[in-house]
Amino acid sequence: MKKFRVGVVGCGKISGIYFKNIPQFDALELSACADLDRERAHAAAQEFKIPRVLDTDALLADKDIDIVLNLTVPQGHVPVNLKAIENGKHVFVEKPFALSVGDGNTVLDLARKKGVLVGCAPDTVLGAGYQTVRREIEAGAIGRPTSAMAFMLCHGHESWHPDPEFYYLKGGGPMLDMGPYYLTALITCLGPVRRVSAETGLAFAERTITSQPKAGRKMPVEVPTHQSGTLLFDGGIIATVVMSFDIWANNLPRIEIHGTKGSLSCPDPNSFGGRVARNTGDKNGWQDIPNLKRFGENSRGLGLADLAQAVQEGRTPRASGALALHVLEVMLAFDKSAKEGRHVNIQSKIDRPAPRTDDAIASTLP
Ligand SMILES: NC(=O)c1ccc[n+]([C@@H]2O[C@H](COP(=O)([O-])OP(=O)(O)OC[C@H]3O[C@@H](n4cnc5c(N)ncnc54)[C@H](O)[C@@H]3O)[C@@H](O)[C@H]2O)c1
Repeated sequence: MKKFRVGVVGCGKISGIYFKNIPQFDALELSACADLDRERAHAAAQEFKIPRVLDTDALLADKDIDIVLNLTVPQGHVPVNLKAIENGKHVFVEKPFALSVGDGNTVLDLARKKGVLVGCAPDTVLGAGYQTVRREIEAGAIGRPTSAMAFMLCHGHESWHPDPEFYYLKGGGPMLDMGPYYLTALITCLGPVRRVSAETGLAFAERTITSQPKAGRKMPVEVPTHQSGTLLFDGGIIATVVMSFDIWANNLPRIEIHGTKGSLSCPDPNSFGGRVARNTGDKNGWQDIPNLKRFGENSRGLGLADLAQAVQEGRTPRASGALALHVLEVMLAFDKSAKEGRHVNIQSKIDRPAPRTDDAIASTLP
């Protein structure tokens, strides 16, 4: 299999798991890394044996790089992607795909013009957990799906992330931060969304960082931190979705999907594995369903490897930019619906990504 040389831009908190996993995929090799903070890039290069540290612009233009992995903060996703694509590179970017639907479309239009592929996180839905959920639904395990619930409720990220400010600036908030996991999982399992109605709120106009090294510093909050809404899917399925950074504790499930013949309890969509259980309303109650075998551990990089194979096989990547743009349009519709006091129709249309078979993505990861 051809090796695709990956250049990584952004060597922050999430980069470590990518650096660790990338060498384990047959289609990938680490070629170079870059960060605005050059010391961070050097530290990553030393720890993960990355051959070269470059300036960002040099990396984006480097002739020995095939795919740019964009792990910058949300505000950097579109500008870095556009430069990489302009230079003829395929890109895979962390979520969210963009901060506006217009910017997301600009990225996809340029990629089409340049003949390169675009992928986007999350790739957790390609893991054992949600691929099992999807297989069960498609096998008719709960009959015709009719409704779903998705809850991500916490008190934000300032207790653990060393630089949490970006989560509360434009491009942050619980929906753009965590919504991609939940909505990508729902859309992968249930199909595209037709319209959204929602309410949003903001409980704390200022927050105090409690993690090190910035403990005690105040941060402004620019975006809603509680988003609650209803989605109508193309198939008539109704989902209740709540994403919040304003909640101290809760006992709600992550995701449940209900159908005419039963219900599925689904794993945390921010993980690759997790428990899948079914209840058909009989005396047996909740029954565990064994997960697919591969990619049940933290397999970040799976979507990137699938993108490399997609280039070789001339197909669409499973964690595609088009899917991420549909997810983005749905996420942004929450604030729009709340502001304008109406349903928001979703314009983008997508096909569900192909399911992943156990041997689809070559890797030594379990
Ligand atoms: N931290 C997590 O647990 C986590 C999990 C999943 C996804 N993500 C996503 O990954 C992305 C990065 O998150 P993080 O937590 O690693 O953030 P971070 O702030 O820890 O790291 C981001 C890094 O990107 C660098 N950077 C920013 N703009 C740049 C540019 N234009 N050129 C070069 N370097 C640039 C910064 O200097 C920083 O080192 C975000 O989109 C986030 O949503 C984070």
